[in-house]
Amino acid sequence: MSSTDTADEHVNAEWWRQAVVYQIYPRSFADSDGDGLGDVRGIISRVPYLRELAVDAVWLSPFYPSALADGGYDVDDYRNVDPRLGSLDDFDHMVASLHAAGIKIFVDIVPNHSSNRHEWFQAALASPEGSPERDRYLFRDGRGEHGELPPNDWPSHFGPSAWTRTTNADGTPGQWYLHLFAPEQPDFNWDNPDVEADFIRTLRFWSDRGVDGFRIDVAHALKKDMSEPYKPVPTIGIMSDYPIDGSHPLFDRDDLYEVYRSWRAVFNEYDPPRVAVAEAMVPVERRVNYARADTLGQAFNFDLLGTPWRADEFRSTIARSLELAHSTESSSTWTLSNHDIVRHATRFGLPNETHLDTWLLTNGTEPPVDHEQATRRARAAAMLLLALPGSVYLYQGEELGLLEVADLPVEALQDPIWLRDAGARKGRDGARVPLPWTPEAPGYGFTTGTAHLPMPSWFADFAVESQRGEAGSTLELYRDALHARRELQTSEGLTWLDHSDNVLWFRRENGWNSLTNFGAESIVAPVGEVILASAPIAGDVVPAESTIWFRS
Ligand code: BGC
Repeated sequence: MSSTDTADEHVNAEWWRQAVVYQIYPRSFADSDGDGLGDVRGIISRVPYLRELAVDAVWLSPFYPSALADGGYDVDDYRNVDPRLGSLDDFDHMVASLHAAGIKIFVDIVPNHSSNRHEWFQAALASPEGSPERDRYLFRDGRGEHGELPPNDWPSHFGPSAWTRTTNADGTPGQWYLHLFAPEQPDFNWDNPDVEADFIRTLRFWSDRGVDGFRIDVAHALKKDMSEPYKPVPTIGIMSDYPIDGSHPLFDRDDLYEVYRSWRAVFNEYDPPRVAVAEAMVPVERRVNYARADTLGQAFNFDLLGTPWRADEFRSTIARSLELAHSTESSSTWTLSNHDIVRHATRFGLPNETHLDTWLLTNGTEPPVDHEQATRRARAAAMLLLALPGSVYLYQGEELGLLEVADLPVEALQDPIWLRDAGARKGRDGARVPLPWTPEAPGYGFTTGTAHLPMPSWFADFAVESQRGEAGSTLELYRDALHARRELQTSEGLTWLDHSDNVLWFRRENGWNSLTNFGAESIVAPVGEVILASAPIAGDVVPAESTIWFRS
């Protein structure tokens, strides 16, 4: 083998470090058969779109058989495709089409919990207390004279209790089982070797089918301290409440990393090694543990989601993220949106302190969204992120500037956050409305049937066909930025340059500059040869809330 071959292989194995990964929420991407649910053939039909957009990889949220109690994150069978979405043959065809277009694929692995329809959970329910079948999950006796109270008061992410009581075959009330999410999502017992072995099998199953990487759902929750007396868990989902010494009974325990070391060994059996990114909702100093080369290799960085729109705040968040990633020899990830949060093209038009759950309960009216500001900032932020060293995770529809559908009628809501806690939180459906491909109502090119979540009439203006070829459209901006990024991509260094208070300016090693004016007024800046700008520019004048890429 020549040294060039070796170098190429090396580059290939490191492809993930600065990849642009496009998240597909399969049920809302493209529907090929008119049943109102997006499907695998729909994705195949849109591979040319993804290629034109110039993304390096796609990440597919779950497409497995599921009752959709939590949008597919309640998995019935980890090694199959939901028949409503297609078959394994369709899946293979999709992988081949993506690969032929030069696009890699990540699938979502949901290891903390299965669905309650999973054959193991059904077997556990049908088996006696203390049986090996029950030991794959976390069954416990209730408290109280007749076991009528849950084993403890741990909360679930989706509200109220993390425990649900079972009913025995003879109709009498039985044991309780733990679910950190919906009751339809029983948590696995990760101290049971069957569970470990089965996930290794799943990782191999998809790797053997050509999958390049994995997104690991709730990667911080697998191992639990179930010893009695149970340790208190007063809050859930508030990262700042979690200790940083691995002592939380449910999250980010030190013995978790052993699981990921064994997964790493599996990933490294492949050539190139399979890659993984952890969704680890843990304090930043602990995130690195998921991103080490001997564990998952990379971890999501959600820090910018909560960073106020200020140059100094963005700069310190970015600098810290780069440092942390560097400390593990990983690369940073950047993201502004995903299927779990209000879309950023809407968020950027709300005051920083807006409580999004409360705002959603007003159907997105109070406070009102400043759409012009939101669009300006969303475009500027996208270009800023795409200029940073590391990988960028885009969420389907953000390239269209798509807004949150904040006023979905409550009858249409599917999210367990709403269904479990009705009236308290509307949940995440407003970010999961299917994509508009054409301006034609009612299916907007997504479906010829009835979309599984209603698509509003204003989607017409955001449709792919409404923006394609339109100078200045958000779709064209993303496409230009992604193509340019491919050409400009360089080593992972960055130099900060100073200008004025409202400006964030950095230069990559090949003279690629990115300058963002966070201020509400335009400024004059020494821009050299302009490559791309998020807003129309004239000479050295950088408009308010815009990003410019230039060479110097
Ligand atoms: C996923 C959510 C899901 C939850 C439970 C999250 O991290 O992104 O959509 O509800 O895990 O699986």
